[in-house]
Amino acid sequence: MSRVLSGIQPSGDLHLGNYLGAIRNWVEDQGSHDAFYCVVDLHALTLDIDPAELRIRTQDTALDLLAAGLDPDRCTLFVQSHVVQHTQMAWLLECTATMGELRRMTQFKDKSEGKESVRVGLFTYPVLQAADIVLYDAERVPVGDDQRQHLELAREIAIRFNHRFGDVLVVPEAAIPKAGARVMDLQHPERKMSKSVSSPLGTVLMMDEPDQITRKVKKAVTDTDGEVRFDRESKPGLANLLELLAVSTDRTPDQVASSYERYGDLKADTAEALIELLRPVQARRAELAADPGAAAALLARGAEKASEVAEVTYARAAEAVGLLAPR
Ligand code: TYM
Repeated sequence: MSRVLSGIQPSGDLHLGNYLGAIRNWVEDQGSHDAFYCVVDLHALTLDIDPAELRIRTQDTALDLLAAGLDPDRCTLFVQSHVVQHTQMAWLLECTATMGELRRMTQFKDKSEGKESVRVGLFTYPVLQAADIVLYDAERVPVGDDQRQHLELAREIAIRFNHRFGDVLVVPEAAIPKAGARVMDLQHPERKMSKSVSSPLGTVLMMDEPDQITRKVKKAVTDTDGEVRFDRESKPGLANLLELLAVSTDRTPDQVASSYERYGDLKADTAEALIELLRPVQARRAELAADPGAAAALLARGAEKASEVAEVTYARAAEAVGLLAPR
């Protein structure tokens, strides 16, 4: 079975974009692949997160992933910092990547823009991400559209490493879903729904109560021409709603559009569909919260399994670059 790896930052409450763009596909892939999923706490250190909060969020994110359907008997779920080879491999790759290619990363540009002082970790962030991937010989990386550029970089780095040191790393490929890859903010449909940008009304959280979901969808920004039609360019707010209803009910946005004449009806049905989509996830989350100790044990087991793979890949890469093996 070919390998899959993906990761998520424990930097805030998970939202519909995370679920539709990534997590839902992680659940799908565990049936057909040897799947590794990690909560990337080291990446979250690039943000200003309070240490105590980071610890709690790391555990909560793991619980959310289990609630969403990750099954520890069918995938390996672990915390990135529990497997020491991530930072070791990142160093080998930092000695392969260039300043120029990292400077071109749009996420780096966005996050560093206007800042007087920018941390080195924010700059090298995508190299650590590449290390996460190559450590598991992952061929497939299920992510949302916003990770496309980071995945292209990971490929480039792996190819360059192999060119210099032989056939050592598996070159990964992004798996971006056809629908749901770019869920937009309900209040600012020109920008993606995000954990880090505060937009409480624009962001539907995976754990939002049904009445919160209804309120947010009802207040979603649309346009004034009143015609229901799927047009991302000139009707981004409406297109986002059509896409959300489409992915929640296995239809295309155009099919959905043809069944509605009024924005109000579309909004009501979209809210209803999202509530139903998230209902089982929320029910499982409540059960899991009752026994957080079980999740900790499970993460320990995941780290052990992940380490077994990571140790072998790292040793292979270390040998290839000429590091003397410890006795
Ligand atoms: P993160 O934590 O920002 O997001 C986790 C996943 O959710 C997807 N996503 C979205 N998809 C659709 N619409 C949205 N509005 C939306 N917002 C987020 C993201 O594309 C992602 O798949 N750098 C990564 C984490 C990472 C990683 C990795 C991913 C670290 N190492 C190795 C893959 C492989 C990130 O910040 O994701």
